[in-house]
Amino acid sequence: MMILIALILMLFMKESQQGREEKRLLNTLFADGAYNKLERPVADDKEPLIVNFSLTLQQIIDVDEKNQIIHTNLWLNIKWNDYNLVWNPQEYDNISSLRISANHIWRPDILMYNSADEDIDSTFPTNIVVSSNGNCLWVPPGMFASTCKIDISWFPFDDQRCKMKFGSWTYDSSGINLILQNDTGDVSNFIPSGEWDLIGMPASRNVLSYDCCPEQYIDITFVIHIRRRFLYYAFNLIIPCILISSMALLTFTLPPDAGEKISLGVTVLLSLTVFLLLVAETMPPTADAVPLIGSYFAGIMLMCSLSVVCTVLVLNFHHRSPDTHGMPNWVRIGVCQWLAKVVRMKRPNFEEKKHDRAVYYKNTSGKERHILENNKTNLKENILLTNKLYSQRKTPISARFSPTTVRKTTLLQHESIQFLATTKSEQLLLSILNELKFATNKIRNDDMRCDMCNDWKFAAMVVDRLCLWLFTVFTLGSTAIVFLSAPHVVKYD
Ligand SMILES: *[C@@H]1O[C@H](CO)[C@@H](O)[C@H](O)[C@H]1NC(C)=O
Ligand SMILES: *[C@@H]1O[C@H](CO)[C@@H](O)[C@H](O)[C@H]1NC(C)=O
Ligand SMILES: *[C@@H]1O[C@H](CO)[C@@H](O)[C@H](O)[C@H]1NC(C)=O
Repeated sequence: MMILIALILMLFMKESQQGREEKRLLNTLFADGAYNKLERPVADDKEPLIVNFSLTLQQIIDVDEKNQIIHTNLWLNIKWNDYNLVWNPQEYDNISSLRISANHIWRPDILMYNSADEDIDSTFPTNIVVSSNGNCLWVPPGMFASTCKIDISWFPFDDQRCKMKFGSWTYDSSGINLILQNDTGDVSNFIPSGEWDLIGMPASRNVLSYDCCPEQYIDITFVIHIRRRFLYYAFNLIIPCILISSMALLTFTLPPDAGEKISLGVTVLLSLTVFLLLVAETMPPTADAVPLIGSYFAGIMLMCSLSVVCTVLVLNFHHRSPDTHGMPNWVRIGVCQWLAKVVRMKRPNFEEKKHDRAVYYKNTSGKERHILENNKTNLKENILLTNKLYSQRKTPISARFSPTTVRKTTLLQHESIQFLATTKSEQLLLSILNELKFATNKIRNDDMRCDMCNDWKFAAMVVDRLCLWLFTVFTLGSTAIVFLSAPHVVKYD
């Protein structure tokens, strides 16, 4: 800002005072042989010329991760003293400064060593402001492209340190002594970037000798320390990914009979794939390191694929029946008992129901057998008995039965005693009994089938629940690991 104001002021002064005096001054300064722009402007040739150097960062235009190039808008600030360009202002109508085209006087050949521009020097050759005491101020602006080793392993939580090395290309330390004016770059005019936060811009002065030449060369290196603003990525990459992956968890809570389990899983997988295609475009395409978010997405993708696999297993279990599959012991004990305990699942009143039914069947089957046995042995006896009864109608029925016979005959036989009078009704009874036996058997078998089906269904539920737990832990864990391991997310230093 100060420089700008000074320039404007000087411009104003120049307008008011320009005229023949400036022409006379220029003629004097650049008279034949008086000034040679090839000459390094030092009074004593053995002494190095002191050149003060500083840098103003205007804007970070782009960080090209793929090509490892950072594009910036910079102003260089170069000051030196040219002993040839000294005059007494009073002699020249108080002219205290001149603006001279950069091509007309000597200037230091300061270049950006790590420039990635097509024409290495990206500066615009602006005029040089020369003061009456010989001080030259040259502020060439430029759009610089510089190489920068970009490390994306923590993308999008990454910091980048981009070096910018400036120095005289040909003059060694005995020719030009570069002095660093301020140990930080000037960022007072910095236009904040939407994508990057500027953390700092430290500078250092280095003296190095290169393979080519034994002399020592001085360079000034600025480091642009920037940090990616991950809010954009959090909103556009991470939150949608978490949401989609939690949809994948829903597949494990959907009942298998709804018939949508697989389609939900596959839909989630598909949407994640489509989403990943978008993500891949935003991610820097380098193979140096796998970015943090890349591994996160790979993990989530793997989880979604596995969830589809697990859902298929669950459905397979769910639809098994005793007709096609016996239940192996490892499923009965490993899954239905042990795993069910692990995932804290229990079938409501399962044990009591099972016990009740077992007891019931045991009793009924015993009773039935009993009836049949009795039938076989007693039928003849009964027929005789009833015939006898009919012949002795006058005596009461109860009196005709000996206690042993009463004990032997069953309730059924009691009630239907008169129908046993003929062999026809007796056969009818037998066939009814058979039918009954068949029906009971069928019901019992159905019950057992149903039990086994339910066992399989329960096994499916257990696996479902186990998957729900595992995948929930995985999703939460991986998300937490990503956020906790990333630098500058939890602790902003
Ligand atoms: C360069 O900077 C030093 C102090 O850092 C100052 O004394 C000197 O005058 C400056 N030279 C020019 C030409 O501005
Ligand atoms: C130059 O400036 C001095 C004081 O700054 C003043 O006395 C003198 O009159 C000025 N000369 C011209 C020609 O304006
Ligand atoms: C260096 O720059 C900072 C910030 O621009 C400024 O506050 C400080 O005074 C400067 N130091 C010198 C020695 O110029």
